[in-house]
Amino acid sequence: MSSDRMTLRLRIWRQMDADTPGKLVDYTVKDVSTHMSFLEMLDVLNEDLIRKAERPVEFDSDCREGICGTCGMVVNGMAHGPLDGTTVCQLHMRHFQDGDTITIEPWRSRAFPVIRDLVVDRGSLDRIIAAGGYVSVDTGGAPDANAVPISKISVDSAMDAAACIGCGACVAACPNGSAALFTAAKITHLSHLPQGQVERRERALRMVAQMDDEGFGNCSNHAECEAVCPKNISIRTIARMRREYLRGLVVR
Ligand code: SF4
Ligand code: FES
Repeated sequence: MSSDRMTLRLRIWRQMDADTPGKLVDYTVKDVSTHMSFLEMLDVLNEDLIRKAERPVEFDSDCREGICGTCGMVVNGMAHGPLDGTTVCQLHMRHFQDGDTITIEPWRSRAFPVIRDLVVDRGSLDRIIAAGGYVSVDTGGAPDANAVPISKISVDSAMDAAACIGCGACVAACPNGSAALFTAAKITHLSHLPQGQVERRERALRMVAQMDDEGFGNCSNHAECEAVCPKNISIRTIARMRREYLRGLVVR
């Protein structure tokens, strides 16, 4: 085999739906280029399965550029795979070796029921956003960039938190299945901006309440979420979410 081509053994979670038990199924995929992305490697497997009239492996993807948050799977026990700050769609096969065995599983969380194979329902994250992760006042058209002065510290903090793409890796990695990092990123983002002040108090209370209602676990500071987050969202945002929540309870 030439040095940029690999044969891999894949152990992939196959499951018809949330009500049917799933299991790991073994596949061999040949002629994988080291230049392919992880999802392109799965495309190769699926083309082979389709040729053999077998059901392809279902997985989510959209932009394949690390910006939309649609892709997500656990690769060898790590959400989004072994590369720091990288979504699985941006993980390339050069980080694996010819002959490797790779285990691929869906996000596992009570709040993310499996739809099929590697596809899970992340509607619970959408409902947390719908509970308060928005600005409902009419802020008019986009003003000139310098019309609303915002301190550099606030801008940087808001931008860092706004980098969250809603992928759910933080939930999958957390031993408690907590969505605290995701929710904290959204609350932190808006809490730093003038537009976010109008509903600031209700936002934290409502989003945290929705997070609890969806069946996510509590944060107990394991920091596994921060370790796998492809956008390097800091767990400091969780400390800010807690302050925002307390502020929401006492400020009228
Ligand atoms: S905090 Fe990070 S891991 Fe969690 S949803 Fe946002 S981008 Fe994904
Ligand atoms: S497919 Fe958009 S972030 Fe991976």
